[in-house]
Amino acid sequence: MRDETAHRPHERLARHLADDLAAVNALIRERMTSRHAPRIPEVTAHLIDAGGKRLRPMLTLASARLLGYRGEHHIRLAATVEFIHTATLLHDDVVDGSEKRRGRPTANLLWDNKSSVLVGDYLFARSFQLMTETGKLDVLRILSDAAATIAEGEVLQLTAAQNLSTDESVYLQVVRGKTAALFAAACEVGAVISEAGAAARSALHDYGDALGIAFQIADDLLDFSPEAKIGKNLGDDFRDRKLTLPLIKAIAAAEGEERAFWVRTIEQGRQQEGDLETALALMERHGSLEATRAEALAWAGRAKAALAALPDDPIREMLSDMAEYVVARCT
Ligand code: IPE
Ligand code: IPE
Ligand code: MG
Ligand code: MG
Repeated sequence: MRDETAHRPHERLARHLADDLAAVNALIRERMTSRHAPRIPEVTAHLIDAGGKRLRPMLTLASARLLGYRGEHHIRLAATVEFIHTATLLHDDVVDGSEKRRGRPTANLLWDNKSSVLVGDYLFARSFQLMTETGKLDVLRILSDAAATIAEGEVLQLTAAQNLSTDESVYLQVVRGKTAALFAAACEVGAVISEAGAAARSALHDYGDALGIAFQIADDLLDFSPEAKIGKNLGDDFRDRKLTLPLIKAIAAAEGEERAFWVRTIEQGRQQEGDLETALALMERHGSLEATRAEALAWAGRAKAALAALPDDPIREMLSDMAEYVVARCT
């Protein structure tokens, strides 16, 4: 009988790592509370109970297991990585003015921006407490570098938004920063606690980097897919005048009236009813969505190639399938 979840490798990996993931979830639950500020567990429970795919903690667990790790630190590090992720989501939804996350109203909508920012800060701080418990300086360096890089990526994106001269190299830098840095760090710390050699460590870093880029390109494409069920609102990026890859490609091909359309909607932000549909039609006309999909596939290919240096193991196969899955979401 065909495995129903074969096309959803994160679920296969989740089953394979079920005990570890249960321990991670228990630790998350234990550390997301606060003795003094009831608003903290309210907000964190709202977001954490909604689930999320837990991709990043799975990467940490999988990397450690793939390299034969036998201790307990991988659980702490997986929880650390999910805390960093959750903190950035709280902040990101304020910055993006988003109203939906994981199929629920965002915390900024249900409570307010202040709560989201402050609880996000709290989760960041909790993540640092957790990672210090491993006592490994390398791990602290990798994860604190990643936290700085994420923030850098988000700020770079802020200044690149609304700017029609934003090109693919700036986009790549944004995506590497805001998304891929945490994927790469999640993988690399799994290797570090396993005392793996430099080759395995850099292979896992490169895998996470390429996987994260593929994932974000696919996510940006999904923002323009009317049939997508992503638990987030569609067209947010266009309304925010965010220059994601499909838009950058369509703008590069635009002349005359088309160029004027992008100047009005993105640069000047004078959007009106029907503009999202026009944007979609222009992207179709220039094959921008197809070309973006091809780039996501190329990055998934790079992620898979990076795995060649790692031990032949069922987990390696699942990581390879995961690279296909992140792109399959948008094809
Ligand atoms: C959302 O990440 C943020 C991006 C980098 C696009 P996920 O899609 O992994 O979020 P959850 O944790 O599953 O909700
Ligand atoms: C993801 O960025 C947030 C971070 C990686 C910090 P986006 O703004 O593109 O993702 P969504 O669409 O809100 O999940
Ligand atoms: Mg956002
Ligand atoms: Mg954002």
